[in-house]
Amino acid sequence: MSIQTVATRPFAGQRPGTSGLRKKVTEFQQPGYLENFVEAIFLTIGGGAGRTLVVGGDGRYFNREAVQTILRMAAAHGVERVLVGRGGILSTPAASCVIRKHAAHGGILLSASHNPGGPDGDFGIKYNIENGGPAPEKITEAIFAHTQALTSYRISDAPALDIDVLGTSRIENTVVEVIDPVADYAALMGRLFDFEAIRALFAGGFTMRFDAMHAVSGPYAKTIIEDMLGAPAGTVINGEPREDFGGHHPDPNPVNAAELIALMNGPGAPDFGAASDGDGDRNMIVGRGIAVTPSDSLAIIAANATLAPGYAGGIKGIARSMPTSTAADRVAEALGISCFETPTGWKYFGNLMDANLVTLCGEESYGTGSHHIREKDGLWAVLFWLNLLAATRKPVAQIVGEHWARFGRNYYSRHDYEAVDAAAADGMMTALRERLPELAGRTLDGHQVAEADDFEYNDPVDGSVSTRQGIRIIMRDGSRIVFRLSGTGTEGATIRLYLERYEPDPARHDLDTQEALASLAAVADDISGLRERTGRDRPTVVT
Ligand code: G1P
Ligand code: ZN
Repeated sequence: MSIQTVATRPFAGQRPGTSGLRKKVTEFQQPGYLENFVEAIFLTIGGGAGRTLVVGGDGRYFNREAVQTILRMAAAHGVERVLVGRGGILSTPAASCVIRKHAAHGGILLSASHNPGGPDGDFGIKYNIENGGPAPEKITEAIFAHTQALTSYRISDAPALDIDVLGTSRIENTVVEVIDPVADYAALMGRLFDFEAIRALFAGGFTMRFDAMHAVSGPYAKTIIEDMLGAPAGTVINGEPREDFGGHHPDPNPVNAAELIALMNGPGAPDFGAASDGDGDRNMIVGRGIAVTPSDSLAIIAANATLAPGYAGGIKGIARSMPTSTAADRVAEALGISCFETPTGWKYFGNLMDANLVTLCGEESYGTGSHHIREKDGLWAVLFWLNLLAATRKPVAQIVGEHWARFGRNYYSRHDYEAVDAAAADGMMTALRERLPELAGRTLDGHQVAEADDFEYNDPVDGSVSTRQGIRIIMRDGSRIVFRLSGTGTEGATIRLYLERYEPDPARHDLDTQEALASLAAVADDISGLRERTGRDRPTVVT
């Protein structure tokens, strides 16, 4: 075994996006591509001496090779100890949990989240810091800067390590510990939620389907929901992680989890349905005949937080990403706590949680979580709902209906235009940005524009400023139209159009969501020229 210095040259485009570096597998397979990015991480954090690092991923195609490469590079950079999930597996929330529990310096997480996997699919890598959360922009930018100036990387020539057996071994002077990927996470969940009450719920005949979508949360959900909480075998479906997610899109929304939605709308539906994504940080909550929007789920969790033992003392504050509906803001107001509006991406929540300003965070993109870790957490949200259902013994639809009756309903939908021509998308955003000053004060199809801006975030903790985080058109009645370009797509550009309408009157809480938002959708198209500019006459995905 010896440490090699390998000559390399920079690859263009290694700037991390909303959540790390995501590219096609084929791009990652180029010699030196992964190595360069990992080298840049080590240069940015100042090497590995005396440090513990966590490594794991969602098990998608290329995960195993990438883990071996990272282990050999960690050894070359003098890392003292690496904790790696058995089989190279760690869900994103579990990785965050392990970093915090073992006081690691950080972690390298391998995932492209909900993007499809397999040889023709996507792969991704990101660095998380010692609080367990995604590296903030100043670190991701430093990593990027290093990738653009590299001339060599360092790697041990040690043979591949057996990562399928628990235990400790060595590469060079680095201790590599293969850990159970589920144990630490499951123990944490047991401390946050009333497992006894949930066990009693299942014992009483309560039925559930958890769709793991052939992704990483299968083993976590089986251990916790079936083994620890006593749900019958078969409650967790598609529970075997596969390298290509069974050919499906591991994104828990009503479009990609259509089978689960059909089951929940059909005769003999179980009491509760849920799904999570490729790396286990997203969640979808479904009741009989009702899919709960992630924005509503955040608000409902906040309003009922004290029912879960881990939150019995109340919550400090809530943070939501800007495009997420304002349903949580109303709960925060009622509770007399602050509600922060941040740019899209979980990394912006870390400072707020570290400073103890917020307890709960959420995004409209099926992401919900709390300060128990520093990532969003799919199974956590599902367990929160189970705790809520066990404590109230009410059906999901009733819980949601009662929440709307109390706080009003925020009709909400996101329209995605995927893989559109990048220049057309940029052109649309630029033109819209230029129109913002003249939009304020105008009336558009009966909606009076109160404010129109390009969202800028001033981090109240470290004072950093993030500009151009999405175009907001806010109406007098609280309705909103938001436009932004995706930072996670790997093909052309993806335009996200977010629509929200607030309806206080319970007599009007039964409208069809798209009908309720039709007028706002028309206004959005009118002011942006979206359809004309992109040549698309309808969104690719509506959630
Ligand atoms: C998307 C979601 C965003 C989420 C991110 C990572 O990013 O919109 O809320 O944090 O995935 O899961 P986008 O593609 O919109 O940049
Ligand atoms: Zn994810």
